[in-house]
Amino acid sequence: MIGSLFAAIIGSVSFWGSLIAFLKLQELLNKNVEKAFVKNAKIFQVANIVLLIIALAACVFIGVNATPGEGSSQWWIVLVLVAAAIMGLFVVLPIGAADMPVVISLLNALTGLSAAAAGLALGNTAMIVAGMIVGASGSILTNLMATAMNRSIPAIVFGSFGGGGGAAAAGPAGEQGTVKATSAADAAIQMAYASQVIVVPGYGLAVAQAQHAVKDMASILEEKGVEVKYAIHPVAGRMPGHMNVLLAEADVEYDAMKEMDDINGEFSRTDVTLVIGANDVTNPAARNDPSSPIHGMPILNVDQSRSVIVLKRGMASGYAGIDNPLFTAPGTSMLFGDAKKSVGLVIEELNAL
Ligand code: TAP
Repeated sequence: MIGSLFAAIIGSVSFWGSLIAFLKLQELLNKNVEKAFVKNAKIFQVANIVLLIIALAACVFIGVNATPGEGSSQWWIVLVLVAAAIMGLFVVLPIGAADMPVVISLLNALTGLSAAAAGLALGNTAMIVAGMIVGASGSILTNLMATAMNRSIPAIVFGSFGGGGGAAAAGPAGEQGTVKATSAADAAIQMAYASQVIVVPGYGLAVAQAQHAVKDMASILEEKGVEVKYAIHPVAGRMPGHMNVLLAEADVEYDAMKEMDDINGEFSRTDVTLVIGANDVTNPAARNDPSSPIHGMPILNVDQSRSVIVLKRGMASGYAGIDNPLFTAPGTSMLFGDAKKSVGLVIEELNAL
């Protein structure tokens, strides 16, 4: 009975929580509504405590009064499921955009624990083993991602960070730079004469499916004697390991993919950093602007590079919905267009050099 009730609560929380995570990731939730939820996080937390007490009280009632085979507890089980479902919605709704990667991983771990508990209730060894593997690996991943984001799991669940997709001020108060557009020819020349180029992939690379073109470009640069490395932020893209998977698919060597902590010291010694469809993971406001909704989130120190070329279609914000002062910094130029198309044009120019 304990296994069944645990599975009912955790399974319900993770199922309904995952639906909200899906709506947020697909950007189907209105940004203003999302912002209002994040702002009123405390109300949801109080409601969650009440719901948890209701669910646990119903579980105790079932445990004390249920007579096996009589179906006497079925409405109490419905109450447990409904309370846990609302809890799942209320846990995820007020969580800010920058915390969503950790929450997704946490929900994934919870589904495993729920399956393992259901396996215990049913006496099904396969379910117990599979559930424990998902639960354990998901918990390890959640912990790693929370550490990489400089956050603790209770702080994510009980206090929001990451703004919930609201528009924030452009960089520190008063700072307004100008956007410098560049051409594929200029980008190619800069990179061809650099000794090291760091590629920073982001969600836009996945949207454009530019990974194979990027690998081709890197091969041409390497033939010209340029060292090419890839800086991978733990939450770049929309799922854990998103960039690693894309680049591996294009046969980029594992050694060339550097984790954030390993590459951050290298930006200041790098001639050109090529940002391909990344935004939030390069936003210096996370480091410099205490009023920024993502302040405190570790970022790739792209702004310390001698020059930065950003490939994106326009000046749209990233997932966190905030402006990025990197795009208007003096050392940055923007190569506007779809990432795959832009990389293709850079390849043509490199071949012509
Ligand atoms: P984002 O900050 O989401 O920015 C992606 C950028 O790519 C956008 O600004 C967009 O600008 C550009 N883009 C889109 N399509 C493009 C295309 N076809 N060609 C060129 N550029 C294109 O990406 P990021 O830097 O990877 O950061 C990830 C964000 O997602 C973080 O805020 C993270 O917290 C969040 N998140 C991550 C995860 C995981 S587990 N990775 C899960 C949930 C949420 P334009 O529209 O102007 O082109």
